[in-house]
Amino acid sequence: MRKVVTYPNDVLTTPTQAVTHITQDTIELLDDMYDIMLEEDGIGLAANQLGESVKIAIVELDDESGLIEMINPVILEEFGKEIDVEGCLSFPDVYGTVERAETIKFWYVNREGVSTFDEASGYLARAIQHEIEHLNGGLFTDKIIERLTPEELEAYMEDKEYD
Ligand code: CO
Repeated sequence: MRKVVTYPNDVLTTPTQAVTHITQDTIELLDDMYDIMLEEDGIGLAANQLGESVKIAIVELDDESGLIEMINPVILEEFGKEIDVEGCLSFPDVYGTVERAETIKFWYVNREGVSTFDEASGYLARAIQHEIEHLNGGLFTDKIIERLTPEELEAYMEDKEYD
């Protein structure tokens, strides 16, 4: 059974390898990632967070966005800037504000091997940028503008009506 790798670990700071063939292992990894993301109450997960150094990430912000499974994702264009709070399953109890593009155009291959162009804004765009950053060996903690205490986080979430 795979589990979430927490910082510090080299697999989190090493750029992942592109997927050249979608195999049964790829599908099993995607399914595992989804189960673990739900179990851990996350909204996104990158394969290297499970110790697998391959370019695969998933995001499921809410029912409206649905599950986005991305193989070899790339951000093509960025528009605007926005600062909001992020956390990460690899950094339990670390929360802070990070600046990201407000809207992105991005590309990926889905589990059927279909090349997909898409656009996202707001917190969905943020989650996708956070996960693609993981695949490139980056960490949101290097971008934190202001770290939040648990009390500040709670107040912030109530304000934003996130849960
Ligand atoms: Co993360």
